[in-house]
Amino acid sequence: MKSLSLPLISLSLVLAACAAPGPTLYQRLGGAPVVQIVVDRTLERAAVDERTRRSFDGIKLGAVKESLAAQICSISGGGCRYEGETMAKAHKDSKIQPREFDAMVDMLRQELDRAGVDAGPKNELLKLLAPMKRDIVTSSR
Ligand code: HEM
Repeated sequence: MKSLSLPLISLSLVLAACAAPGPTLYQRLGGAPVVQIVVDRTLERAAVDERTRRSFDGIKLGAVKESLAAQICSISGGGCRYEGETMAKAHKDSKIQPREFDAMVDMLRQELDRAGVDAGPKNELLKLLAPMKRDIVTSSR
């Protein structure tokens, strides 16, 4: 009995490790169509919202939309390759303030809700983006 249980336990551990992985965060967010609509709406709002719009003056929104969607796809296991600038480089000239960052994240959170993304994947995505604050925010005012 004893000699049988060890191989059985080993076998079940191997089987558990080989079990099909769950859906990626990208899939749980709703995949490409949902991520794109959330990104588009967030950036369209950020470009006109009085709290954030100054940085978007003269910026071609289409390119930023595409790039942000690729970045979110890349960090959430969607298999895309992000080919844009580092966060520090992309935002350096804007001298973004903490309150501008927070306003943008608020808009993103609202748009994730509006698109019907569940709290789980929503918060996981926001958690992945939060550490970028230290590279994006370069003004203390
Ligand atoms: C978690 C927060 C943020 C993320 C993940 C993010 C991500 C990005 C990405 C991926 C790009 C494109 C970079 C490239 O293609 O090279 C970008 C560009 C840009 N972002 Fe952000 N961003 C964030 C916060 C903000 C905030 C708070 C503002 C302003 C209030 C802002 C304003 C801009 C502007 C104006 C550009 C275009 C820069 C240019 O083309 O010169 N971003 N961002």
